[in-house]
Amino acid sequence: MSDLNALIDALPKAELHLHLEGSLEPEQLMEFAARNKVDIPFKTLEEVRAAYEFSNLQDFLDIYYQGMSVLQTEADFHDLTDAYLKRVAADNVRHVEVFFDPQGHTERGIPFEVPIKGILKALDAAEDKYGITYRLIMCFLRHLSEEDAFETLKQAEPWLSRIHGVGLDSSEMGHPPSKFAKVFEACRARGLKLVAHAGEEGPPSYVYEAIDELKIDRIDHGNRSLEDDALVARIRDAGLTLTVCPLSNLSLCVVDDLKDHPMKKMLALGLKATINSDDPAYFGGYLNQNFRETAAAVGLTREEIIQLAKNSFTGSFLPKAEQAKHLADIDEVAARYGV
Ligand code: HPA
Ligand code: ZN
Repeated sequence: MSDLNALIDALPKAELHLHLEGSLEPEQLMEFAARNKVDIPFKTLEEVRAAYEFSNLQDFLDIYYQGMSVLQTEADFHDLTDAYLKRVAADNVRHVEVFFDPQGHTERGIPFEVPIKGILKALDAAEDKYGITYRLIMCFLRHLSEEDAFETLKQAEPWLSRIHGVGLDSSEMGHPPSKFAKVFEACRARGLKLVAHAGEEGPPSYVYEAIDELKIDRIDHGNRSLEDDALVARIRDAGLTLTVCPLSNLSLCVVDDLKDHPMKKMLALGLKATINSDDPAYFGGYLNQNFRETAAAVGLTREEIIQLAKNSFTGSFLPKAEQAKHLADIDEVAARYGV
């Protein structure tokens, strides 16, 4: 193993951009389909794997929503979440801030409490079982209406003490952040943290809207911000964290080649970028795989890798005192590796 990969493996890390439904591995999809007697258009694992091939965000989303149909019971959501946590514990992940898409389930008749109960059961057990703490972020599907988002917020009301923030995901083009300004305002009034996918496929103006109209605390993706120097300065000066997802960007053709990924440039511009896996079952790798492949493709230095690990905690919604403990652990590992 290269020194760089050994350092990546050894560093404590947080993951800040992960869709739980996007951690549904082909094996699990087959298993849940069988146990719930759900018809899926695949007979073999190879057929599922072959379908996990995309040329843009919408291509992926079509498969992603189809995959969700096998998730039926609280136990399914628990097992899905637990499998993700077990997987990233092996990557030395110490804290996760995970998304779930309640509308992807309520729209097909699964009551709101089914996914959230199963997910929370696994997340609540994670500290003892894997040494992983968590925050849970409920996403609104942006291809649906703001009225639908308000209805989802209403369904979430009994759970709001267990939900730490809200996000915005799904098809970006044609669904700008401003479409959700009122519901984000209502969420802010309830003390929820706010994040939104912006600038993955959408233009820099969508990132401006996420900052100015949604008043987000963190930007998911944000790649296309680099097209606008004034926006880069805004994000940098506000200290906003970007949750960047390199293997996702490659799978969805946001970049044509990982060598062209802007991660190194983001860091050089002084942006607080982080590395994340987005939908690891669909995009070819969990957190350390994203670090490894990005480091190799764009030539990240050991110092940059350590910076990225630190950004993952300082960009998290953990209290400062808890962040400080993780940062001290990172310094200890860095010293051991002579950085
Ligand atoms: N972008 C938008 N919506 C999503 C994604 C993504 O990468 N993953 C799951 N929903
Ligand atoms: Zn995402």
